[in-house]
Amino acid sequence: MKLSDCHNFQDFRKLAKKRLPGPIFNYIDGAADDEVTYRRNTEAYESCDLVPNVLAGVENVDMSVEVMGQKLDMPIYCAPTALQRLFHHDGERAVARAATKYGTMFGVSSLATVTVEEIAQIANTPKMFQFYFHKDRGLNDALLERAREANFEVMALTVDTITGGNRERDLRTGFTSPPKLTLGSLMSFAMHPMWAWNFYTKPKFDMPHLSGYVSEGTNVAVSVGNYFSTMLDQSMNWKDAEELCAKWNGQFALKGIMSVEDAKRAVDIGCTGIMVSNHGGRQLDGSRSPFDQLAESVDAVGDKIDVICEGGIQRGTHVLKALSVGAKACSGGRLYLYALAAAGQPGVERALGNLRTEIERDMKLMGITNLDQLSRENLRFRETA
Ligand code: LAC
Repeated sequence: MKLSDCHNFQDFRKLAKKRLPGPIFNYIDGAADDEVTYRRNTEAYESCDLVPNVLAGVENVDMSVEVMGQKLDMPIYCAPTALQRLFHHDGERAVARAATKYGTMFGVSSLATVTVEEIAQIANTPKMFQFYFHKDRGLNDALLERAREANFEVMALTVDTITGGNRERDLRTGFTSPPKLTLGSLMSFAMHPMWAWNFYTKPKFDMPHLSGYVSEGTNVAVSVGNYFSTMLDQSMNWKDAEELCAKWNGQFALKGIMSVEDAKRAVDIGCTGIMVSNHGGRQLDGSRSPFDQLAESVDAVGDKIDVICEGGIQRGTHVLKALSVGAKACSGGRLYLYALAAAGQPGVERALGNLRTEIERDMKLMGITNLDQLSRENLRFRETA
């Protein structure tokens, strides 16, 4: 199997599985507890059907959107994800270049492996910084200021990782950051010599935004669950979020909002957006899917701030369904991470290109030339027992 054989999300997943050592593949692919929410995040789209119009003159379609003040050439962007250097030696550089090529936003994690300064040089496209609220206030200030200095347009505070999710695949494989050299991991590296060669010969794995503040994750091996539980501040509350939002003084979102009550509070503290998200099913298993929860969120705050639907998206039609309900844009992690692992920058470009082609085709088949022609009128939800 090669990159040209990758036509959809599942194809990239298969190629990533071949290329990556087991613990690393399972870190991306896994989720919390029984992974019910992870599966539901995609299945939710299947409980909803599109009702197309025809004879609409759809020769030229425009799929651009404006979200949190940013003009994107397509309605889906790369959600921030951690540790990309583990998946491919170019890490975030590859994703930044691919996102630039497709004119969409690129999210950079606090736990990124390339600096915001370097990303700013590479990415001529809107950039989001994803903020983890650490116990170390010096680190928090440094993260905010670095992102500001690097001209990141959007700040997103993650609010659904107050403690580590129970990722049992990581417990079984012993996945840590940086990867621990155990007998098992050495064997799995030996079975993936290309990955191991690139990992050990290319510039050293590092999480440069944390350097100088915490050693966990860079010099001291920890699981991501443990990192959340021990490094992040569990006392974080609405006042902290409000202060951070005021300090940033620009486009500011809460990432991981599910309830209507919280969506309304996000408006009250001055946010300009929310990501309806359950962290890709990696935190609270049993949590509702973002698509199922979208209508309530849009009805509550959609006229005041931008609502983004994040997680589970594998197809262009999923994006059209979320936009029909009222999301301003969609985002996803695995949809480009498997592609990054499969083939680096050309992989991510192919994944974004496939999605772009699908969205364009699906818009034509839906009888629309502009995404604002979508509405709940063109959706039907199936009765669920
Ligand atoms: C995760 C974090 C790091 O879900 O976003 O693994």
